[in-house]
Amino acid sequence: MIEQIRSDLLHWFHSYARDLPWRRTRDPYAIMVAEVMLQQTQVDRVIPKYQAFLSAFPTVAALAAAPTAEVIRLWAGLGYNRRAVNLQRAAQVIMEQYGGQVPSAVADLRALPGIGPYTAGAIACFAFEQDVAFLDTNIRRVVRRLCVGPDDRSTPSDGELLAHATALIPPGQGWTWNQAIMELGALICTSTNPACWRCPLRSYCRSYATAVADDTALAATM
Ligand code: ADE
Repeated sequence: MIEQIRSDLLHWFHSYARDLPWRRTRDPYAIMVAEVMLQQTQVDRVIPKYQAFLSAFPTVAALAAAPTAEVIRLWAGLGYNRRAVNLQRAAQVIMEQYGGQVPSAVADLRALPGIGPYTAGAIACFAFEQDVAFLDTNIRRVVRRLCVGPDDRSTPSDGELLAHATALIPPGQGWTWNQAIMELGALICTSTNPACWRCPLRSYCRSYATAVADDTALAATM
């Protein structure tokens, strides 16, 4: 069953994934910029800001050396300016401690200013193609519904969800898998009105199975 889940979601991703600029690169710096921007801002709003930011500061060295006011100016529209200040501080630490190369180990990434467990995992996976699991809002929701149950009947801990997310990763395909699970959460398995009827994982989904069972039980009373 896990093999089927993996192959069905990967097939779906290859057909329906959006073409997003940070999916076309493995430059760790560019991915770090994208993931910090995406922490609290919608994809559509991030795309133009991501491109302008990388044009202004194309490398870790350029960001580290820039006037902070200029960094904040290019962040305008994304909100939470503290993220911009932390991102520049992270660039400065990468210059001082890692010779300008973004580190690849999750523990080293975690130690950078503004980089929490989600962002560290996302950089390790999307820049360095490591098979690591991490949780953001979309991944949490998809994994909870798929592996645990309906939203209103289950409050699994992050530790439990992370264990499920880790077990799901097809070995050697963490990059595609994590992009795919995020994409499913963004396009199909949305927080309100999920489009279960076009979900590739419907037949494996605990939440969907419960909804169908509830409908059947209800229908039997009518
Ligand atoms: N949100 C956070 N990271 C993302 C990514 N890599 N692709 C799409 N949405 C995201």
